[in-house]
Amino acid sequence: MNQIPVAVLGATGSVGQRFISLLDNHPWFKVVALAASDRSVGQKYSDAARWVLNEPMPDYARDMIVVPATTDAVQAKIVFSALHNDIAKDVEPQFARAGSAVCSNASSYRKAEDVPLLLPEVNAEHIHLVKIQREQRGWSGCILTNPNCTSTGLTVALKALDDAFGVKKVFAVSLQALSGAGYPGVSSLDIIDNVIPNIGGEEEKVEWEPRKMLGKLVDSKVQLADIIFSAHTNRVAVIDGHTVCVSVELAQPADPEAAEAILRAYTAPESARELPSSPRPAISVRSEADRPQPRLDRFTGKGMTTVVGRVRRDPILDLKFVVLSHNTIRGAAGGSIYNAELLVNEGLL
Ligand SMILES: NC(=O)c1ccc[n+]([C@@H]2O[C@H](COP(=O)([O-])OP(=O)(O)OC[C@H]3O[C@@H](n4cnc5c(N)ncnc54)[C@H](OP(=O)(O)O)[C@@H]3O)[C@@H](O)[C@H]2O)c1
Repeated sequence: MNQIPVAVLGATGSVGQRFISLLDNHPWFKVVALAASDRSVGQKYSDAARWVLNEPMPDYARDMIVVPATTDAVQAKIVFSALHNDIAKDVEPQFARAGSAVCSNASSYRKAEDVPLLLPEVNAEHIHLVKIQREQRGWSGCILTNPNCTSTGLTVALKALDDAFGVKKVFAVSLQALSGAGYPGVSSLDIIDNVIPNIGGEEEKVEWEPRKMLGKLVDSKVQLADIIFSAHTNRVAVIDGHTVCVSVELAQPADPEAAEAILRAYTAPESARELPSSPRPAISVRSEADRPQPRLDRFTGKGMTTVVGRVRRDPILDLKFVVLSHNTIRGAAGGSIYNAELLVNEGLL
């Protein structure tokens, strides 16, 4: 396959850097433009970005000149957006109108009825909403979104349990990494020796986004899953990897052993199983009493696998367990790239 030209908007930030890293030597995609704010425009990427990843900045990006996030400056079939919501809201439709497929990390369009909110290993079929979107909006491009990084691993685990037993209620408490707040993010004086028990807007997202992803596509519309969520979201002093402690009520009671077996056996729908970024495996179940842990387990399956552990009985609901997912890989840049691969594979680019 000829490589498809792609661009990254918000290329210097926390998620943008992950895109730069994950797109290095991607078999299908070639990065042709890197865009950021006026602060960075005109500079070499290596001068503009304060690189924070452990792996070195890829050579291809170092000398690229950062351009503005406009359709004049950026021409690419696929545009990966790591922009903040307020900017994404205006910029992303401009690219979709100009013919680019925008794979977005922002929340601006997640709730729109004609915009897929996608985790390919969960709801790959929702990608067909882009056809409706193109018809209704007259765009030759499109917008597809991935969920917030806390909903990501949680929804993958719930999908496996919902298919097997039906999920009725979910109580979730998150311990979210610092990179989820962007760069420079939370001040060190606020987070060292501390836990911050509030992340603006996050609880509402965790209580709603899984319902769209676990919903059914009926007559070209997503019917929200009939599941009640209650979420507490907390920022903790971990660099990468969001942990979520979850309790669930099931429609059909299951013991922990049966639930573990279901989680372990879960596979993505066929269309999303063999893409370059498909998580291998979709879910990894740890049997140790003290796993998953962010430092030890966040890179499972190159950071794309959802890691579950401590599956046990819950005395109030039915089952409880712990979920870990890499927030800037599976929960952001890697997830967007996976979405783009699905779009290409489905012939929808
Ligand atoms: N971090 C995560 O784990 C995570 C997970 C899921 C979703 N998200 C979402 O992903 C998006 C990016 O988050 P982040 O954590 O990467 O943020 P970030 O570290 O603050 O980076 C923001 C990026 O946007 C650029 N930017 C700012 N204003 C701009 C403008 N007017 N025009 C063009 N570019 C502009 C910045 O460029 P300069 O460097 O030039 O200022 C920077 O590259 C947000 O919508 C966030 O909610 C983040």
